[in-house]
Amino acid sequence: MNTDYRNIKVLIIDDDQRILDFLCTILKRYEFDLYTASDGEKGIELFKKENPSIILTDINMPEITGIEILKIIKKISPITQVIVFSGVGTTTDVIEALRLGASDYLVKPFNIDLLIHTLSRCAERHELIMERIERKDTLEREVRERTAALTLTFYETIKALGLLTEKRDPYTAGHQQRVALLATGIGRKLGLTQKEIEIINVAGLLHDIGKVAVPTELLVKPSKLMTPEIQLMKLHPEIGYDIIKDIPFVESLGKDVSRIVLQHHERLDGTGYPKGLTDDELELESKILSVSDVVEAMSSHRPYRAAFDMATTKAELIDKKGIAYCLECVDACLELIAENNDNAQRLFASLALSNRPPV
Ligand SMILES: [Fe+2]
Repeated sequence: MNTDYRNIKVLIIDDDQRILDFLCTILKRYEFDLYTASDGEKGIELFKKENPSIILTDINMPEITGIEILKIIKKISPITQVIVFSGVGTTTDVIEALRLGASDYLVKPFNIDLLIHTLSRCAERHELIMERIERKDTLEREVRERTAALTLTFYETIKALGLLTEKRDPYTAGHQQRVALLATGIGRKLGLTQKEIEIINVAGLLHDIGKVAVPTELLVKPSKLMTPEIQLMKLHPEIGYDIIKDIPFVESLGKDVSRIVLQHHERLDGTGYPKGLTDDELELESKILSVSDVVEAMSSHRPYRAAFDMATTKAELIDKKGIAYCLECVDACLELIAENNDNAQRLFASLALSNRPPV
């Protein structure tokens, strides 16, 4: 049992000054950190200021009774130990006090040994609860810190994987980041949740990872690709899928990003690749990604052609809206383009500033 009471704050509330004096005299010998109040109102005020571990209160007091004090204290701080006492208390008072969460009750005149024993037990119980709360807080903080570190590692790894592709092809450097920016911008316009935006962001950053398996000379070829070369290039969604399919995206993001990557060249009308899937078979994220991909690609220079102007890019979207490209995704994308005066550079710069994904 605890014998060092110096740091244990005890608040005594009683309208009888003689009882306050008596209890103070006794408890001072044990070096409790004592506070006294001569009525309920002062007692509650002092409680709020000092936050004692234990409250020792008389039940029968004018205005605010010990039972009412108990109710108020337990509402503010359920862990505070409240001991009620009374000289003329009835069994009903005691039962009511215990029902309301009183730790114990004492009867006047006080048995000093019992008083000290009760206070000591309450002090230990309070300390135990505090330790438990601190342990829980520490554990929660550690979990939060580790989750944050893991999340950072996750996104840095995603970024590094994305860069791996682009390092081999200077003409498409930044392509995946810009596609991710535009796709997340479209996702926000469509009212998707933060979680869904995160999924689109990761899929955007990785969507062309399969190009690591495409020979560099094809990636940088200054003329149009020949049919066999196009066939080789068209393997990149499946290669990308194979590369990332074992990453536990479902556990970290709640959705399989590799499926979205696999579908990013599919079209609603089945004219895309690799599987020729149609509207209902496609993930919304893939539909968003394909719109972003085409806008970014058309707005950028390639070794075999100059960048298209925004009018041509918009015409491509409008022409195939609801046919090859998701109608809502195109409308959201057109809105973003219009908000940036049909200027591709401004579009991506403003997305980078205001629509920044969580990496
Ligand atoms: Fe691609």
